[in-house]
Amino acid sequence: MPSPIHILNGPNLNTLGQREPEIYGATTLAEIEARSRQVAAELGHEIVFRQSNHEGALVDWVQEAAEASAPIVINAAALTHTSIALHDALKLCPAPVIEVHISNVYRREAFRHHSLISAVVTGLIVGLGAQGYELAIRAIAAQSERG
Ligand code: DQA
Repeated sequence: MPSPIHILNGPNLNTLGQREPEIYGATTLAEIEARSRQVAAELGHEIVFRQSNHEGALVDWVQEAAEASAPIVINAAALTHTSIALHDALKLCPAPVIEVHISNVYRREAFRHHSLISAVVTGLIVGLGAQGYELAIRAIAAQSERG
């Protein structure tokens, strides 16, 4: 069994479903977790699925995944645009890291156009809604098969 895929979610993503549904859709984080678990299982992977409103918790979880050489799917939410600490932590990850954003941040306010983490991730999925998580899991599974 490969290392579990760590799926990490930043501030306010616990309110998905109620939060600006015209931007983020109606899917809740619990539904994203259930779908992620199902898709990962079909591909022979386990997941660790977490959300926090606190930067330090996310840094701890990135370090934990890095120490385990586990792949990461991260929606850092607003911390994407502010967190040098997450940039530094993600830089030390030996396994693939996929940055996901539900909305197309480039069609939104200018302050969302810059990501402090994109330069240290493997790939990015932006603007494809909740489905972005599933696509990220599929990309990681395909990469781990290729070795
Ligand atoms: C987000 C985009 C961020 O700009 C925002 O702060 C979020 C969610 C997204 O998934 O589209 O909280 O990461």
